[in-house]
Amino acid sequence: MTSTALPIDLGDGIVLTATVVADAEAAYRVVERERDRLRQWLPWIDDTTSVRIEREFLASLESANADGSGLHATIRLDGEFAGVAGLRISAVHRSAEVGYWLAARAVGRGVMTRAVAALIDIAIRDRALNRVELMAATANHRSRAVAERLGLRLEGVRRQAELLASGFVDLAVYSTLAAEWPGAAAALAAARDQARGATNH
Ligand SMILES: CC(C)(COP(=O)(O)OP(=O)(O)OC[C@H]1O[C@@H](n2cnc3c(N)ncnc32)[C@H](O)[C@@H]1OP(=O)(O)O)[C@@H](O)C(=O)NCCC(=O)NCCS
Repeated sequence: MTSTALPIDLGDGIVLTATVVADAEAAYRVVERERDRLRQWLPWIDDTTSVRIEREFLASLESANADGSGLHATIRLDGEFAGVAGLRISAVHRSAEVGYWLAARAVGRGVMTRAVAALIDIAIRDRALNRVELMAATANHRSRAVAERLGLRLEGVRRQAELLASGFVDLAVYSTLAAEWPGAAAALAAARDQARGATNH
């Protein structure tokens, strides 16, 4: 089953397309250039040492999109690769876990909040999933802010659940359930107003 939900145009030059192997060169260029920033929060960065490895990884995302076990999107900003956001889906539990990263040039513009909102929307409305989970290192304030802007609920902390370059870190666990997700539209509008307010000052 190939995703019919993608591509999605989120406005302001942001487009989500289904991730394909052909995205590997552009993705790897960003990984190479921005290793120091990304390494802080992404455990796979130091193992991604060639375009070939990136291609193999994206091939696994492409086949997850095809068999329904994932919904992985490449984020384009003004037509160029700007990051990825995806869901790993458990059909058994009708749940999904969201993961993402952005190129530096796309940070600070609300790109990820909108991308994650769109993916959760697809998960809950189109795929009839019941739960979407988002985990971020407790010190990863930018990532936690994405969850909080969308009104996801903080469930707790998984102690030393991730091994990053700095050592073991605790993960904050956020989630939304199908029954509470409609409230996210309001959370998004509030985040937009807040962002507008901040730029007006
Ligand atoms: C985590 C990460 C994706 C967050 O990126 P981000 O740009 O902070 O998040 P968003 O794209 O949602 O943008 C939010 C910012 O845009 C602003 N913004 C502008 N327009 C906005 C809009 N329409 N809606 C929401 N926010 C908007 C917000 O105010 C916020 O800026 P601020 O942090 O200066 O207040 C990014 O920092 C990253 O890639 N980090 C490295 C990898 C990583 O940590 N991955 C996650 C592992 S769990």
